[in-house]
Amino acid sequence: MTAIFITGTGTDVGKTFVAVSLIRHLRHLGHHVDAIKPVVSGFDPAQAAASDPGLLLAALGLPFSPEQIDRISPWRFRTAVSPDLAARREGRRIDVERVIAFCQNAIKQHRGILLIEGIGGIMVPLDEHRTILDVMMALQLPLLLISGSYLGSISHTLTALDSLFRRDMNLLATIVSETPGSDAPLDDVIATIGRFTEPVIGLPRQRGQGGEPGARSPFARLFGSRPAPGGPQRSS
Ligand SMILES: Nc1ncnc2c1ncn2[C@@H]1O[C@H](COP(=O)(O)OP(=O)(O)OP(=O)(O)O)[C@@H](O)[C@H]1O
Ligand SMILES: [Mg+2]
Repeated sequence: MTAIFITGTGTDVGKTFVAVSLIRHLRHLGHHVDAIKPVVSGFDPAQAAASDPGLLLAALGLPFSPEQIDRISPWRFRTAVSPDLAARREGRRIDVERVIAFCQNAIKQHRGILLIEGIGGIMVPLDEHRTILDVMMALQLPLLLISGSYLGSISHTLTALDSLFRRDMNLLATIVSETPGSDAPLDDVIATIGRFTEPVIGLPRQRGQGGEPGARSPFARLFGSRPAPGGPQRSS
């Protein structure tokens, strides 16, 4: 069993886009993949198919049902604000220990590759004192840090990397998902961040969800590009 935690420098940088691309690539290679996004804010049940859990389920090829949404994203809040605030607005409180236990249980149960999408940036508050970084530290999984190429993203990325490295977190790769309309060219952003960490992988702006699996996938460098000989295999 392998699990990877997908975090980001902030909200809307491309965590779900990367998760969906990676699910498609890993499934193409024949891996048995699952994904969870334990905490979601800004969740509108009327638009559930377009929500993060909806997109993850579609990429996983799983039925889109209330049970599946519940299974992969049990903490859902309506308002698109930080999770601690979103919970408070509903008279609720996130029990961080339960979020950690939920992830640990999913890791234990799944035979294959499990992707866990975080929420917002690396220190988004979950309750009065704890952030998603506390969950990441408890899980100690290899991380993918997702960033954009917007103006300011280099500093945001280096700040995030500093926080992760000071805690001896295991960073698998930094992925820069191209921000449309940015004056900063993707290649320049990658080269600059690459002076501080490696590997740094660029994800050019693509049409639709998910990008192309296989040899042309930006993830081929990390996870290989060819299905296992003899057809799809289940990793365990
Ligand atoms: N490389 C890319 N090519 C095309 N579209 C992209 C790319 N990266 C991100 N997007 C799009 O940008 C938007 C924001 O990306 P995404 O939802 O993946 O961000 P996120 O970090 O998961 O946000 P959140 O914090 O809400 O979970 C989405 O519409 C997504 O499809
Ligand atoms: Mg997302």
